[in-house]
Amino acid sequence: MQHKTVIITGANSGIGKAAAKQIADQGHQVILACRNPERAERAQHEIGGNTHAGQLDLASRRSIHNFTEWIHREFDRIDVLINNAADFDLSRTEREMMPDGFERIWFTNHLAPVLLTDRLMDRLIASPQGRIINITSKGLLMHPFQTVDLKDPMFGNRPFSPARAYYQSKLAQIMHTRWLAQQLSGTMVTANCISVTNVKLDLSRFPDLPQWMKNLYTVKSLVSISPEKMAETYAKAALAADAKDVSGALIAHPYKETAAPVYAKDPLVIEQVMQLSFKQLGIRPSISYEQPEFD
Ligand SMILES: NC(=O)c1ccc[n+]([C@@H]2O[C@H](COP(=O)([O-])OP(=O)(O)OC[C@H]3O[C@@H](n4cnc5c(N)ncnc54)[C@H](OP(=O)(O)O)[C@@H]3O)[C@@H](O)[C@H]2O)c1
Repeated sequence: MQHKTVIITGANSGIGKAAAKQIADQGHQVILACRNPERAERAQHEIGGNTHAGQLDLASRRSIHNFTEWIHREFDRIDVLINNAADFDLSRTEREMMPDGFERIWFTNHLAPVLLTDRLMDRLIASPQGRIINITSKGLLMHPFQTVDLKDPMFGNRPFSPARAYYQSKLAQIMHTRWLAQQLSGTMVTANCISVTNVKLDLSRFPDLPQWMKNLYTVKSLVSISPEKMAETYAKAALAADAKDVSGALIAHPYKETAAPVYAKDPLVIEQVMQLSFKQLGIRPSISYEQPEFD
């Protein structure tokens, strides 16, 4: 078996850390891309194996730039990129703006994975079988009318809701995946999106959550699976030989292709969302931009 090089963002806790362990335990090289170097080092120590810690704050363009420069210096190819990290602080009552004018949830959960993936595309294409794995939420099923507000994705002129901002970003990630799969057809790189179900959260990581929300999460945890169980689907999507030809899919847990929301499959909307994303980032995609041909 050829050993792979796998980047996992947000690999210092929860599902990302569990996936890093399962993948490293199979002998693969894992890059833990985490915003807090101390937490990254602690996770690296606990996971063991062939792991590296890289500093990556997805809410900072500078940090994304520094991280991708480091990857380019140190690694000739990346076989798997798992865009796992996300900002889901639902205790926010007001939108939080980054110094460069981006709303934090939209940037961290959608624009940052778009930018990171784009900047690593040459390393993924250098792999004999590159895989990009984005992450969305099964909770979108509870928000059937969720859309991406193309005129105001950052809640400048509409009331802010952290849940709406979160699900908007997770819907956009399904679209990012389908767009990537279409752009990359004819290459050896695939793009898929995992729909994460209810997974137990370590509530001690969120000391500022109001009590009612802690209670809600405690009740939710009764119907939640462990991060380790969910990570099995990450590991399969990342490594399984029989998943190598799957691209553009939404994958549920346990590993199984599932239907994406109709809205997220609309070629015109996908194109609009991705054009908006690259415009906001002020970059041209490094892969050719063609008219999508989705089913
Ligand atoms: N748990 C669930 O029930 C559930 C349900 C649906 C979808 N999901 C999705 O599953 C994925 C993993 O979540 P989880 O349950 O494992 O939660 P988690 O344990 O809180 O992990 C989230 C990770 O993202 C990192 N992160 C947050 N903001 C970041 C930033 N700006 N830059 C870099 N890293 C950042 C966190 O780092 P710090 O340690 O520094 O905060 C943490 O490592 C997320 O995409 C989430 O949206 C989870």
